[in-house]
Amino acid sequence: MKILGIETSCDETAACLIDASGTGPADFTYQVLGNALYSQVAIHAPYGGVFPNLAKREHAKNLVPLTQQVLEQSNSLVPGPTPYDTEQMSVLLAREPELLEQLSAFLAHYGKPDIDAIAVTAGPGLEPALWVGVNFARALNLAWDIPIVAANHMEGHVMMSMVEGDHLAAFEFPVLSLLISGGHTELVLSREWMQYERIGQTRDDAVGEAFDKVARVLGLPYPGGPQISRLAAQARAENITPVFNLPRPMMGEDNYDFSFSGLKTAVKRLAEAHPDMSDDQKKDLAREFEDAAADVLVAKTLRAAEEYGVQTVLVGGGVSANTHIRTELARKIGEVDSSIKLLVPPPDLATDNAIMIALPGYFHAIKKEFADANELRANGNLRLV
Ligand code: KG4
Ligand code: ZN
Repeated sequence: MKILGIETSCDETAACLIDASGTGPADFTYQVLGNALYSQVAIHAPYGGVFPNLAKREHAKNLVPLTQQVLEQSNSLVPGPTPYDTEQMSVLLAREPELLEQLSAFLAHYGKPDIDAIAVTAGPGLEPALWVGVNFARALNLAWDIPIVAANHMEGHVMMSMVEGDHLAAFEFPVLSLLISGGHTELVLSREWMQYERIGQTRDDAVGEAFDKVARVLGLPYPGGPQISRLAAQARAENITPVFNLPRPMMGEDNYDFSFSGLKTAVKRLAEAHPDMSDDQKKDLAREFEDAAADVLVAKTLRAAEEYGVQTVLVGGGVSANTHIRTELARKIGEVDSSIKLLVPPPDLATDNAIMIALPGYFHAIKKEFADANELRANGNLRLV
């Protein structure tokens, strides 16, 4: 089954085409026929974070070229034109005039490709950004009559972390997923395939957001996660003497919630108290922050793993690209119970991409869980559970 994946929840515009088969995680296999991603990082960097309306405009500008690229890569472009109701299309894309213009030109050239379903991120994420992808999927549905799966971005991160080569890794339930990204920090328990129960979440900032804000305090560019991680690694490699101490918020509390806003504020205070911080001090502070974040994430994950008797721990979302967090999680799990399997995403697919959207797209499509194109809405706060 061929699934076109579309992701526009934040600052990456992405499209892909996968060919997948199988009835569940055990016999699933897939092939990436085409994959394209345009990162808006450089555009948002001057603002120190993602500017939603700018993200929306960039998505609208890039979706058609990326989709065309994906269809070209997969030899799926079909000579056109595509016949469709142009009036309805103009209404549908009234808020994305540039997208309408590009899509009309594209459909004048090309016909309906051999695709079984379109998977698009319906949420969670930045609503103006999500709408562009959702409306694009609805427009393709109008033109080609291909069904739509409304994919949940977080389910995408979960499934992406299960991927091993062209299939899913062998694992057993219950699965505990630590989902850490720019917008989310949560612990989700799955007792069965595609069943989710949230057992904890952040009460304020997401951990990725804290990485980004701390980076800004240290004068480092957006996105801050990889920057902090780089400085912290230097501090460890160079054995820089630790001078700074940061709290481990909520680490000892008897719940599975998190809080990262106080940690970020503590970094800010230290930076204000040391206006002429040396490079070594910056590296030390980055290391202490990364250690503090990892300590809390790992401690709570392990406690939940024990409490719920999980067989598998999974880490997903952009922050799961962090080497230190991965290493610490693996080390501590090994200490506590070496029979627990740890699943991490392929390193280049930890941050947002379209393949992670095509995966839930496939699994919902085989269950015929399609969205009504007329009713489909973007939902910035869409929940997994
Ligand atoms: O999943 P993602 O690409 O987008 C959201 O859904 O939010 O995650 C982006 C977040 C950003 O906050 C970024 O700073 C963080 O992931 N991130 C990292 C690393 N790479 C990306 N954080 C820590 N260490 C990294 N290596
Ligand atoms: Zn994400």
